[in-house]
Amino acid sequence: MTAPAETGGEQPRRARGRAVPLNAVSAEEEHRLPVPMAELERVLGGGLVPGGVVLLAGEPGIGKSTLVLQLAMFLAQGEGQVLYASGEESVRQVGLRARRLGTASEGLLVLSDPSVETIVEEIEGAGYTLAIVDSIQAVRLEEKAGSAGSVVQVRDSAAALSRAAKEADTPLILIGHVTKSGAIAGPRVLEHMVDTVLHMEGDRYHAHRILRSVKNRFGSTNEVGVFEMTSEGLREVVDPSEVFLAERLLGASGSAVAVTMEGTRPMLVEVQALTSRSSPERVRRTGNGFDFRRLLLLTAVLTKRVGLPLGQQDVFVNVVGGLSLNEPAADLAVSMAIASAALDKPISADVALLGEVGLSGEVRSVGQIERRIQEASRLGFQTCLVPRSYGRKPRPVGRAELVPVRSLQEAMQVLGLR
Ligand code: TYD
Ligand code: MG
Repeated sequence: MTAPAETGGEQPRRARGRAVPLNAVSAEEEHRLPVPMAELERVLGGGLVPGGVVLLAGEPGIGKSTLVLQLAMFLAQGEGQVLYASGEESVRQVGLRARRLGTASEGLLVLSDPSVETIVEEIEGAGYTLAIVDSIQAVRLEEKAGSAGSVVQVRDSAAALSRAAKEADTPLILIGHVTKSGAIAGPRVLEHMVDTVLHMEGDRYHAHRILRSVKNRFGSTNEVGVFEMTSEGLREVVDPSEVFLAERLLGASGSAVAVTMEGTRPMLVEVQALTSRSSPERVRRTGNGFDFRRLLLLTAVLTKRVGLPLGQQDVFVNVVGGLSLNEPAADLAVSMAIASAALDKPISADVALLGEVGLSGEVRSVGQIERRIQEASRLGFQTCLVPRSYGRKPRPVGRAELVPVRSLQEAMQVLGLR
């Protein structure tokens, strides 16, 4: 808005080897390439930045190629030429996949070649709007020793490709495979070489995928995108809460609803618990989508402070939809799901639970509570159990009634479990 005129187009993008006064640097945002997928754009913190390098990492089969090919097909329809360089698949295989996803246009060019030199030449030569390399483990520099996927090859290939993208002012997306063990030269080496790191997460056996930004020089790392894998590729999920609660069995014991924040986005998620008598030799605790140590802690608190006889019981906790609950705000929901299962008494279906649980069994405050309450209200929840500290302020938000609770015992009374 107030940028002086002389800092316009002629200014070199990077003044190499010369210090420049900071106030002479244009404050204007760099032009970004709009991304026609809102969930992806949200995670990127806006459009793609020219010369910016994005690493899209995830386990094999999670849907990385599908996502970038969809993006490439969208962009190639309007925004100029897109390069999709694959070291893994033949042009024909990419073509077959593309056919499932929609109609390819002539703006999308596919290069099936594992040679980094060839890809670099292509990026430098043609002025692409976007370049994609799938995957960084499948390409190699011919001039260097080592097989594709080795630490040196991965690192040096990424460096060469990034350099080419910066020179050409082309946004570059590198795909990287992560294995469960993390033993091979994974994208870990790459994370500090690129501008943005996105993780694609989810359970292969569930349809939902979460795209999370773990590093972003051009935006916040607080955003997530939610997708659903369908037979025609990834579909954006605009209302995740609705989806994650869709298959809930009303009136069943061992089920509770948490409101978790994924960045700035509240999501309602069902937590399920099951308890059963354990074998005398071994008591089991299993958390699917919930931190194991946190689960041990909560079961210990329930045993010690509430008097639930979990000592001889196996406890299984499952977060529905393949999601992970990584924040303490879900403690109350997890604890009450376990209590509900152990006592075989259901929790009313229109109650959402918010709160961290301390070692004394006290319910502690959580961040961004108003947004969580709003989201629960929006989805028709009638009651929110909230930490006492919040409830004291008479601040009704939305429609749900707020019931402040001080401890797990109090929560159990309110829920009719006691
Ligand atoms: P893919 O994008 O190949 O995963 P990655 O590149 O991360 O290894 O996607 C793999 C899975 O997605 C595969 O099991 C098939 C499935 N899939 C669909 O369900 N629908 C589709 O339209 C496509 C293209 C793939
Ligand atoms: Mg792939």
